[in-house]
Amino acid sequence: MDIKVSATAPAKQTNATLVVPLHKKISGVCADINKRCDNAISRAVKRGDAKAEHASALMLFELKKVASDRVMLVGAAEPNKSSRAQFRTYCETIATTLKDSGSSLAIIHLEKSVLVKNVDTAWHVQTLAQTLVQSQYTFDLHSAKKSPAPTLKKCIIVVPKSETRASAKAAAQGVAIANGQALARDLGNLAPNICTPVYLANKAKALAKTNSKMTTKILTEAQMKKLGMGAFLSVSQGSRQEARLICMEYRGTDSKKKPTVLLGKGVTFDTGGISIKPSAAMDEMKFDMCGAASVFGAMKAISELSPKCNVIGVVAAAENMPDGNASRPGDVVTTMSGQTVEILNTDAEGRLVLCDSLSYVERYKPAAVIDVATLTGACVVALGKVSSAIMSNDSELADTLYEAGQTTGDLAWELPLWDEYQSQLDSNFADMGNIGGSPAGAITAGCFLSRFANNYKWAHLDIAGVAWLGGAAKGATGRPVPLLMEYVLSNA
Ligand code: BES
Ligand code: MN
Ligand code: ZN
Repeated sequence: MDIKVSATAPAKQTNATLVVPLHKKISGVCADINKRCDNAISRAVKRGDAKAEHASALMLFELKKVASDRVMLVGAAEPNKSSRAQFRTYCETIATTLKDSGSSLAIIHLEKSVLVKNVDTAWHVQTLAQTLVQSQYTFDLHSAKKSPAPTLKKCIIVVPKSETRASAKAAAQGVAIANGQALARDLGNLAPNICTPVYLANKAKALAKTNSKMTTKILTEAQMKKLGMGAFLSVSQGSRQEARLICMEYRGTDSKKKPTVLLGKGVTFDTGGISIKPSAAMDEMKFDMCGAASVFGAMKAISELSPKCNVIGVVAAAENMPDGNASRPGDVVTTMSGQTVEILNTDAEGRLVLCDSLSYVERYKPAAVIDVATLTGACVVALGKVSSAIMSNDSELADTLYEAGQTTGDLAWELPLWDEYQSQLDSNFADMGNIGGSPAGAITAGCFLSRFANNYKWAHLDIAGVAWLGGAAKGATGRPVPLLMEYVLSNA
């Protein structure tokens, strides 16, 4: 979909929909149309057809004296009283109503009355653009019957003249983030027999070809062995699929500027290993690479936008299978950091691939490292499918990520990494165990990772609840690409 920003609505329009807000007291463009059309809108309100209820929509067709075939009235909260969340649902209503219409062009008036107080126009344009593109997502990579091309081809967002420059940039950002989110969803939704560590490595190479500032470094198992990544390799040793450590290096500014590292858990299928999971809904463990998918999504958005910053996207890709060569509960492995780990449960594998990756990324001398992982069922218990968990060794970084969640609606909430939790990882036979028992399971997983992140600012995002939906809507969400991009772009 093509999204443009303009200070004026085009006069000549074919198969278009004019989108205007409808407040209780008819105002703005809506009032103009009403006047031109002999109070047709007032009468629709009076009859009860058009409701000024927030995020409701009514389509009017072939109004005389309106060039567009359709006028979409979108119910809007009281003028100037909208919250960020309300503006998001306002955008969702526009997107879904347009999608269900036969319209190929939409002209969307972003009137001042629907804007959130003290929030710039650019944020609104970005949110709207992102929602419009995101609403067209379909997954058909495994279907013989492909989804039809979307009818809606172009949207023009009408903003005040003084805002056109900032808005054009914001629209491009919204589109790029939605495209990144779509890639994350595709990778998450792909079947685990297709989406293997080697498949992800090839995806990274292909992505790097789209931007001259991006290169890849891909480590094989043999190379990881040389580096002493005993924890990482213990996860893939029971699988026929070889593990890969995938590094996508984007250098968009001075090489002296320290990079941000985004590190994703890429367990392409998690059976639990010898500590095998129950079979009900085990198919959903193909989504155990959604942290990696979100890193790919962010790198795709970065490749489209070429921002002035340095970002390293790292993916720890492995498959966790039970097998004659699989690791056993009780095995002790030596990590790249030198610390030893007693594997008490082979299903706590995410932290094993991540801990060695955290040691590896020290070589980038990062400004900050953010790891993203579907790490614990306990996180889903704590925060449900609404919010990611943030854990960090730097309170400023944690706050910044929290704010990024508020700005984007890709919510995240901090959990404490207090020292009092660390002793749950004690082992009688090694420097630590890989599990901390059932109390505070999300936190003890974070505590485990913190022991490998001593040499830089670090935050861990547990996305186990938000990365995918189950039931009829089963599928990857592409979260937390919006949150990550908010963080990355604010550093550019
Ligand atoms: N990938 C799972 C976490 C998970 C489970 C995410 C269900 C979303 C839904 C992870 O590898 C895992 O199995 N974690 C264990 C850890 C436990 C053994 C300490 C868990 O959460 O049960
Ligand atoms: Mn597991
Ligand atoms: Zn897992």
